[in-house]
Amino acid sequence: MNATINLEKKHFPVLLNELISIISPLYGGTFIDCTFGQGGYSKEILKHSSNKVIAIDRDKDVVSIAKKLEINNNGRLSFHNKKFSEVNKFENKIEDLKAIIFDLGYSTNQIFDEKKSLSFQSEGKLDMRLGLNDFSCDDVISSISEKNLFKIFKYFGEDKNSKIIAKRIIQKRKKQKLQTQDIVKIIEEAKKYKFSKKNPSTQIFQALRIYINKEITELIYGLINSFQILPIGGVIAVVSFHSIEDKIVKFFFKNYSDKKNTSRYLPDSKKINCLKLKNTKPIYPSLKEIKLNPASRSAKLRYAIKTRENENFNEIFDKFNYLIEVENLNFKL
Ligand SMILES: C[S@@+](CC[C@H](N)C(=O)[O-])C[C@H]1O[C@@H](n2cnc3c(N)ncnc32)[C@H](O)[C@@H]1O
Repeated sequence: MNATINLEKKHFPVLLNELISIISPLYGGTFIDCTFGQGGYSKEILKHSSNKVIAIDRDKDVVSIAKKLEINNNGRLSFHNKKFSEVNKFENKIEDLKAIIFDLGYSTNQIFDEKKSLSFQSEGKLDMRLGLNDFSCDDVISSISEKNLFKIFKYFGEDKNSKIIAKRIIQKRKKQKLQTQDIVKIIEEAKKYKFSKKNPSTQIFQALRIYINKEITELIYGLINSFQILPIGGVIAVVSFHSIEDKIVKFFFKNYSDKKNTSRYLPDSKKINCLKLKNTKPIYPSLKEIKLNPASRSAKLRYAIKTRENENFNEIFDKFNYLIEVENLNFKL
């Protein structure tokens, strides 16, 4: 999510009504909220007294909000501080599971949390960990090679100035320990004659956050493992915020659905239809919502219904292997 969001440091759940209307015909059952955050979606689902929510978030800072909801709803919510790639790792079988929902990215509270330093507006140390991470941004910037840093910027930031920015970071690192605003200055200097509507640091910071939090691997396994535990008829719904996330979600839903554009020369047996898409196009926030909450402007909601079991998801790994490889690049020299 973009950092230039609400002036108030309050998180507004994005596309809430649209998401609820997709899953509401299924009311009465269990829903997994893979990105609990400030609990905006979970609270809405719990308004129906026969619903239960299993909430997941990797950020332990949200535990207190979840505990409060758990108590106020007589245990109809249970919270798990884990990564959503492990959505299939619950001890007990989930009864009456109706839908699994994802609201990718970061909440406003996280963006404004100085100690997480997710935003280019932060001061101080580089961190960027959402929770349950193996390393911080500081670890990466202090020791990564120029070549690998360039690849991270190129593939996860899609920034045209990736090469020069990576080079200047490595040069400056030799002289001093780099903090958030040092990176911002290097980016601004590299782009000083280039005009863009976006803040010059947007793409490079996006790239670093993706790498630190392994967002590509998380998303691919989150989708596949959600599919594996959903019963037939269950819904997977995802709100994404940037083009890389949306590319993955779109491929997953289209490639494994009856809307797949297969060649008529391919034998039918090669076609795996295990999802049903109601809309091929994503759902966007209304102008009213964007006005109220500018952070919602790049949100896209896609969803699909599971129609049959499938064990083979090789195609998504083949398609996005180039991104997984960048995420697995070593940062230790
Ligand atoms: C945009 S916020 C969700 C906001 C929420 N829908 C609400 O209405 O309050 C995204 C949340 O997902 C969490 N998150 C991101 N990646 C995750 C992952 N791989 N596993 C678990 N939680 C994750 C973040 O920590 C953050 O709290």
